[in-house]
Amino acid sequence: MRRRWGGVWIGVALGVASAVAAQPPPVAVLADTAAGRRMFATVCASCHSVGPPAKSAPPMRMVVMRLHAQYPDRDAFVRHVVRWAQDPDSNMSVMPRRVREHFGLMLPVPLPNGLLENVATWLWMVNPPEMGMPVPKP
Ligand code: HEC
Repeated sequence: MRRRWGGVWIGVALGVASAVAAQPPPVAVLADTAAGRRMFATVCASCHSVGPPAKSAPPMRMVVMRLHAQYPDRDAFVRHVVRWAQDPDSNMSVMPRRVREHFGLMLPVPLPNGLLENVATWLWMVNPPEMGMPVPKP
């Protein structure tokens, strides 16, 4: 009897797990934008200023404007930033080539997806108005 119930519960657990795996929630829904903002200040801001003058990277306002133009979809925007930060690849850059010629290619920031999703979602949702840019459509 105990074994049979054990089997049922394992079955239920597997069912729930596979339902979750089949439909991952959109990344931005799970992101902690307050943590993202702090991480931007501690990690990304060592190279990226928000607006001009530039430090050792293009100012974020310019980067985010380009990203919004290229990725109007929030999840696609977040995924691009996460992938880019972990493994910058000039072939996938949204920035004009002269930007890389001037600043060089970004060094990888090897942080886990979750932490980078926080920064990327903050850039999408919270930072544009603070940067004096129009708020993107949700
Ligand atoms: C060591 C300096 C440095 C740090 C730290 C840094 N970046 Fe960059 N980043 C750069 C440079 C240089 C470029 C311009 C290279 C290019 O566009 O090809 C860049 C470009 C970018 C771009 C443009 C991507 C694209 O598609 O062209 C994004 C987005 C970005 N950085 C996000 C971040 C985030 C988020 C962080 C913090 C987690 C971060 N960066 C930390 C130097 C840095």
